[in-house]
Amino acid sequence: MRTLPVILDVDTGVDDALALLFAVKHPAIDIRAITCVAGNAPLGQVVDNTLRVLDAVDAPLIPVAAGASRPLLAPARSASHVHGENGLGGIELPATRRKPEGVGAVELMRRTLMGSDERITLVALAPQTNLALLLRTYPEVTDRIERIVFMGGSAGVGNATAVAEFNVWHDPEAASIVLSSGVPIFMYGLDVFTQVSVPQDAAAALAAGNDPLGRVVGSLLGNRIALSEDESLVYTGLIGDAGAVCALVEPDALVVEKRPVRVELSGYGRGQTIVDRRRYSGEDRLHGGIGDWTVIDIALDVDASRYADLFLETLDLAG
Ligand code: BDR
Ligand code: CA
Repeated sequence: MRTLPVILDVDTGVDDALALLFAVKHPAIDIRAITCVAGNAPLGQVVDNTLRVLDAVDAPLIPVAAGASRPLLAPARSASHVHGENGLGGIELPATRRKPEGVGAVELMRRTLMGSDERITLVALAPQTNLALLLRTYPEVTDRIERIVFMGGSAGVGNATAVAEFNVWHDPEAASIVLSSGVPIFMYGLDVFTQVSVPQDAAAALAAGNDPLGRVVGSLLGNRIALSEDESLVYTGLIGDAGAVCALVEPDALVVEKRPVRVELSGYGRGQTIVDRRRYSGEDRLHGGIGDWTVIDIALDVDASRYADLFLETLDLAG
């Protein structure tokens, strides 16, 4: 029974596509709406990719809306070196006949939240521009949000820069607004994102197999990024954003800590999520207070093979 109502905010995106497929197929997840934002690809491409992925998994009824075409302050920047020119690693899904909703992402989120009897979980798999605009435009929705689960940030190294993860780096002001919104927040960052992968031989077998969905999933998992062979080895096979959706249904596979976090907004550290992992109060806390830090739940470790298995089993693709 679909007991977990969610709104997914995506920038589809190779691994957003994997997350969408998983979320549609998981029997506990009730997708009430999908909203799109510029990130991995330009907005129009993100919307088109999202609709094509939903067609591929036969989910024609979930409303999809287009949102922000650029971050709050910064210009939009491409991630085509990771996600290819079409945002799906060059994989061509059949063209869609569907159109997005006639209202924008913020309005679709507001209507969905206010029209629901139950609180809804917002799952942000992309730069958080749409969420920040929603929370600023309609603060009354805050009480209708169960929590925000976001893929983004890192307690360790970054990927877009040495310290900043792509989604937060792309729109740090938006991430900062969301962090300070008062909504309970769960961060599924690079610390766990980079751990969950499907072995390359299994992905290759799916890509070459007869199952239509398996071919799509195998091809997405086999996406290789253009920057360097080393980087490809780190990323190829990752289920990526789909791991954040796994976290909704099997949270006990994660090691989670409550930690103070802030988003750095300037200098080289722009976009970094600074996570205070000290077990003691330092000089800053003793003398300056913890001011603009927000205490959130952070996933710091994961039973990676459990999530990889959950992903494949849910899609009915386990060997
Ligand atoms: C995040 O950025 C994008 O490349 C992925 O879709 C994921 O949401 C990882 O940093
Ligand atoms: Ca994404």
